[in-house]
Amino acid sequence: MQPVKSLNHVGIAVRSLDEQREFYESHLGAVFENIEEVPSQKVRVAFYRVGDVRLELLEPTDPESPIAKFLEKRGEGLHHLAFTVDDITARIAELKAGGLRMIDDVPRSGAHQMQIAFLHPKSSCGVLTELCQPPATGH
Ligand code: CO
Repeated sequence: MQPVKSLNHVGIAVRSLDEQREFYESHLGAVFENIEEVPSQKVRVAFYRVGDVRLELLEPTDPESPIAKFLEKRGEGLHHLAFTVDDITARIAELKAGGLRMIDDVPRSGAHQMQIAFLHPKSSCGVLTELCQPPATGH
């Protein structure tokens, strides 16, 4: 088993990126990086850097977005933790061989040109957990 390498980012569900900006930037001093739209997930994502970890603020762009559904059920707050891995395809295979359930059996493209895959929350102690493999050139 290849251990996960590091905490890559923390995903936070928000209703409005603009409204959260003051808290993260002015009060916490997190460094704003950029906003990226991920049409496949129907979200706009704002990235802040804190040391080696990013905060990934997720705002739905459509009522059908998984984030819109999360906000309806749970309100704003912690959405997922993402861990860096070297070989995401091999890690998915290992987890499945160990009897864990995945939301994504096949890696897909996420923000920052990373390959990502989510574990099923029933297999990850109730914390939505993402594996991510940065592009070979680094990020
Ligand atoms: Co994420």
